[in-house]
Amino acid sequence: SSFPSPLPAGGESGLSENAMWLLDQRYFARRYDSVSGTIRKEASFGEFARRVARIVASAETAYLGGSASDLEWLRRLENSIYDDITNRRFLFNSPCLFGAGAGMTVDPGLSGRIYCPPEEMTFEDYDLLRRSRTRSQQLFACFVIDVPDSIDGIFDGVKDAAVISKYGGGVGGNFGHLRERGSAINGGIGGQASGPVSFMETWNTMGAVVVQGGRRRAALMGMLFDDHPDIFDFIDAKVEEGKLPYFNISVCVSDKLMKEAEGGGDFSLVSRSDGKTVRRVKAADLWNKLCESAWKRGDPGIFFIDRANDDNLLKLGETWKIESTNPCGEQPLPNYTSCNLGSVNVEAFVTTSPDGRKSFDFSAFVDQVFRSMYYLDLVIDACSYPLERIEERTKKIRPVGLGIMGLADAAILLGMRYGSPRFSEFCKCLGDSMGSAALCAAAGIVSDMGKDPFPEAGLIEDLFSEFAREQGEELFPESWYGRLDREGFRSLLEKMRSSATIPYTLSNALEGFFTAQGLGNEGARLELAGNVLLAFTKGKIRNSRRLSVAPTGSISMLIDTSAGIEPNFAWSWTRRIARADGEGQETREFCHKLLSPGQVDELHEKGKPSDPVFVTAYDIPPDEHVEVTGIFARVVDSGISKTVNLPSGATVDEVKQIYRRCYAMGAKGITIYRDGSRSFQPIETAKKP
Ligand code: CDP
Repeated sequence: SSFPSPLPAGGESGLSENAMWLLDQRYFARRYDSVSGTIRKEASFGEFARRVARIVASAETAYLGGSASDLEWLRRLENSIYDDITNRRFLFNSPCLFGAGAGMTVDPGLSGRIYCPPEEMTFEDYDLLRRSRTRSQQLFACFVIDVPDSIDGIFDGVKDAAVISKYGGGVGGNFGHLRERGSAINGGIGGQASGPVSFMETWNTMGAVVVQGGRRRAALMGMLFDDHPDIFDFIDAKVEEGKLPYFNISVCVSDKLMKEAEGGGDFSLVSRSDGKTVRRVKAADLWNKLCESAWKRGDPGIFFIDRANDDNLLKLGETWKIESTNPCGEQPLPNYTSCNLGSVNVEAFVTTSPDGRKSFDFSAFVDQVFRSMYYLDLVIDACSYPLERIEERTKKIRPVGLGIMGLADAAILLGMRYGSPRFSEFCKCLGDSMGSAALCAAAGIVSDMGKDPFPEAGLIEDLFSEFAREQGEELFPESWYGRLDREGFRSLLEKMRSSATIPYTLSNALEGFFTAQGLGNEGARLELAGNVLLAFTKGKIRNSRRLSVAPTGSISMLIDTSAGIEPNFAWSWTRRIARADGEGQETREFCHKLLSPGQVDELHEKGKPSDPVFVTAYDIPPDEHVEVTGIFARVVDSGISKTVNLPSGATVDEVKQIYRRCYAMGAKGITIYRDGSRSFQPIETAKKP
């Protein structure tokens, strides 16, 4: 039996056997086939891509009227998403790939509409798909909820986390509002509180029984403020083998702790029940303990919470304050909001000239960033949210998280060693182009595509009014930005940068217009920058968050590229897969796709290829890992998933220095992992299987 669709079969997709295995195991949807009357599973990369592209595109019908040109636009949009996926240029986060069209199985007509050739689609078909979405069409990877200090609140929170997990989302929360262990309940007559760490167990137990969307294990993030009296217990929360296995944990490190730890000052741990200082500790002792723990075991992680709030476009709205990230840390979010991610595969933009020279196609990359931002914005409308409150709040701020993957493989193709000065230069260019293009998209979806700014965008306008006031102006006149020349723009950026009001990644990304490649000549780029800036001052912006570099643990494997901005981890790996003759399974070795047959031989003989561009995470000095993180942190307004790998002989002092440098470079967090220390990442990130 087959779908009524002449789409390319899997083999034509150019995906490796490894990737096809993953698609087949986890991503192919099963649904009722109206032709054969049986349940059938998708069988090709093409079918899979068609479903995802069509469902996301159908969200656009809410903005269209149904004219012939509207239908034309929908088909173009669908084909554009389809081409971007099948050409390995872009992929949505896993929940979107799992969830698009999920549950649309009962109406036999729908099944056909998901897979028929695009030229057969009518406007009504698209509109029907939009209206037929089921509750299972949950498309987001990242959620954050709050954990209030009451039994009701705590258990409502567990329930919400369970619902989010059930629908495939990763969920984080800050447990730091809970009163400390041993403090009084009910003014003393109710006994003693058991503290945040023990309540994290309730989430963990939930994680153990709920399998996300039936496909992957639950992923939880637990955070605690650094001045919580239970902070030392929290740091050790996972010391015991097997404790809190569904959690990543991170300490919210404040600017104050960073300052006092350096200056040798004291640090107050403050009671959550009465706001009084319960204990004063040496800031350096707390900092030490934290760094030592990360050195020893790789957890807890560190979240520079003040950085995240400084860089929050919504910081003037109390309800949009940030207290936690999602489980892998790339997405700081206000409580009860969510974000969908997508990643551009930079490797796909390396081109080869007729004489065999490789170069990077910046203008195609910039176009891809622009398009991808538009796709992710549509996902906000296409998604069925697990909770009404989250839907309402997410739609008020419309955050998206576009990132990149395939960076390490792009470097190999371009003949650069990951971590080398040339590579850093390349990363800087990529960051500038990505940062500028994302700004253009967030403004352009409003100005050029005519969609509304996100409902809370007035908060950005307020930010700029405040900035103007700081500069001694009532408000900058509209014409002012438009006539900025090079020097005028430079001096304005200087002012923005030295003001604490303007988010730093916004200033940095605006500065990126000076050098960004792929956006035309300098005159054109300055004009774009002026328009973007003007749009920001007027709050004419579509999304409150733009960029986020995810681990891409699964989706990078799905399109055979290196994960996120991480280096490669290995050149070969083994996996048990079904035998070609269908008789059980066999263990097979897979080698990195960029190795030539000669290099594969070399790998088998010497353990690694001799070409110096083939470096793994441990061949790269920690400083270079930090450098790459810092370069992207300049423009990535959400977060970056990146591990700094250390040799087993590294010291705690080195860990401290790494944290300091990341902090100074504007990173909102970082993971360190010392070779041989206990790896206790509950969520597989950026590691080849
Ligand atoms: O590659 P994929 O889209 O599957 O995910 P990722 O980039 O490795 O992880 C992105 C986010 O998905 C994480 O930060 C989590 O919020 C979420 N996630 C999850 O909920 N469950 C997992 N088992 C893995 C990731």
